[in-house]
Amino acid sequence: MCSYNSSDVNSSEENPPRLNSQDSKQRDKGLVDGHLINAVCLRDTSFEQRIMALGCGEVVLPCDVVENAGALEAHSARYVLLLENNRIQLAPKDKSMGNPVVVDFSSGTIGFRGRQNVRQELLVKAVFGRDKKSVPNVLDVTGGLGRDSFILACAGCNVTTLERSPLVFLLLSDGLYRAAADIELQPVIQHIDLHFCDAVKADNLALDSSFYDVVYMDPMFPERTKSALVKKEMRVFRDVVGEDMDVNQLFEQARNVARKKVIVKRPRKSAFIQDKKPTYSVEGRSSRFDVYQM
Ligand SMILES: C[S@@+](CC[C@H](N)C(=O)[O-])C[C@H]1O[C@@H](n2cnc3c(N)ncnc32)[C@H](O)[C@@H]1O
Repeated sequence: MCSYNSSDVNSSEENPPRLNSQDSKQRDKGLVDGHLINAVCLRDTSFEQRIMALGCGEVVLPCDVVENAGALEAHSARYVLLLENNRIQLAPKDKSMGNPVVVDFSSGTIGFRGRQNVRQELLVKAVFGRDKKSVPNVLDVTGGLGRDSFILACAGCNVTTLERSPLVFLLLSDGLYRAAADIELQPVIQHIDLHFCDAVKADNLALDSSFYDVVYMDPMFPERTKSALVKKEMRVFRDVVGEDMDVNQLFEQARNVARKKVIVKRPRKSAFIQDKKPTYSVEGRSSRFDVYQM
């Protein structure tokens, strides 16, 4: 279900998985692998077991690690990563900062959308276009919390999903892991193949250009105005992931890889990526899917 690109090391009996061995120089700068540390992880036995079950032992998380609730409470980080109610979640310490981020395909809005007629979803319309019969292979280069990959998988697409943020990758891996144990979701989830990697890096094995009909991207565009309001549920996510400053490179990469089309998600009123007019757009009330035919 989840896998790593070639630079990642597979765990083995001799080389047991380890979580979060941090480089001390980077830590002094508050960084791990270029990611800002603003979270603390409660790494108790149940958390450790879940990490092993996910096969995520080699993912270096940008977190400080503590082993008990007291140390967690005393820590100054803004966010807490922990296993609660059988789900890995990232929660703000100050509850007024927003809701915990957790991936759960069985409930909430995403669970509801998955059970509806997904052919009505704008993204599905953009991906299938007029051809309702053939089912495209999709590369989702901005996995995030997996909602779009999930909708596409519900529509029957095989989706290869890439995510480069270690925290987001862990949350999504955990959501897929729990979904795989759910008898209703299991047939959908098996259409999603998640990889921990940066899509911009050309040497990623997942980017086999002969295979993907559609490349889909929904990056965190740098905001053009400081006043742009971020929805409450997205605040924690945006704070942890930050803005994707390399959207132009990602777009170039997507165009190199897609056989038929690249689809870019944008807020409805915002500019086209690179100011490049798409072949057509599928518009909703708040967002727009710009379709670039190859
Ligand atoms: C706005 S979120 C995507 C939300 C997603 N469409 C969903 O349905 O949940 C953007 C995500 O893309 C990831 N991302 C951005 N650029 C990437 C890249 N070059 N390679 C892999 N992941 C990337 C970010 O880390 C972030 O998690």
